[in-house]
Amino acid sequence: MKKTILFIAVAIMVLPFAVFANGGSEAGSDSIVIGANIYSFADNFMNGVMKPELESYAAANGAEITIVDSEGQQAKLNDQIDVFITKGVDVLAINLVDPASASSVIEKASAAGIPLVLFNKEATEAGVMTSYDKVWYVGTDSAESGIIQGEMMVADWNANPDWDKNGDGAVQYVLLKGEPGHPDAEARTKYSVKAFTDAGIKVEELALEADPNWSTQHGNDKMQAWLSSSFGNDIELVICNNDGMAFGAINALKAADVWLPLYGVDALDQALTHIADGEMNGTVLNDGVNQSRATIDLAINAAKGMDDVTAGTNWTLENQTTKAVRVPYVAVTPENYQDFR
Ligand code: BGC
Ligand code: CA
Repeated sequence: MKKTILFIAVAIMVLPFAVFANGGSEAGSDSIVIGANIYSFADNFMNGVMKPELESYAAANGAEITIVDSEGQQAKLNDQIDVFITKGVDVLAINLVDPASASSVIEKASAAGIPLVLFNKEATEAGVMTSYDKVWYVGTDSAESGIIQGEMMVADWNANPDWDKNGDGAVQYVLLKGEPGHPDAEARTKYSVKAFTDAGIKVEELALEADPNWSTQHGNDKMQAWLSSSFGNDIELVICNNDGMAFGAINALKAADVWLPLYGVDALDQALTHIADGEMNGTVLNDGVNQSRATIDLAINAAKGMDDVTAGTNWTLENQTTKAVRVPYVAVTPENYQDFR
């Protein structure tokens, strides 16, 4: 009896501290530890937008986060996950290098019983998201970015008849594609062009090149090569799957003293400057800030063992098959770009 009373007394004394340790705002030894990665720190969007927000939002919510660079190698990421698991992190927040390799990552998390939030690169293998009850995805609706970019381009094309340089009624375009097999790259490529054909406008693809790193260097090199190729003078439109590659294309155009209508995706700060300077006609906001916040919110709730990881957050899951939170895209044009600064 005495022992029981003592136990209850101690429990009552200790309980408030235990609650504070998990719910307080200061990251302490009892705070939630998140093991995270970025597929490559060389990526403008991931490193420039998502990484800083993941860090600051985790800190603001009392969680400890470690973000490692997977340097574009899925094998490296697999090793990094093993290290996180050995260290006993409470939850994993993972940016796949290879969207077709989610199953190996999910198996690791599942074997260790650690919850897993995938972000930015959606798993492409069928059925993997339902193979583990503690895995979720945070990203976008990939097709939406292509549709919005396409609609912007069609409206501008119709408003600027002189863009049809050879007057054949068709759009002679070049396209800088991101990583092959990445849902964003595939959907943007498809839907941006489809907007023209849906609007009854003929298209002719002069060139298309993919880059697993979505890089500015790639954009520069390809645009430079295209401008000096046999079809260089025929190009009427430059479609870029992201702003990083668009920046490179703009460099190459400026170096060749050529202006062409050009569109990106992401709405990085530098893109807004290019829009202000008339070097870019539009981009699409890829809301990395809110994707980072959703990733952290879900990770913290999952680490706490909550069944509904979106409870008390601004996010909702699309359905129980994709288990995805999708943050909307927004069109950014010369008319509204100042709102995104
Ligand atoms: C972004 C790209 C980025 C890629 C990385 C996409 O959502 O738009 O800029 O390179 O994610 O996975
Ligand atoms: Ca034409």
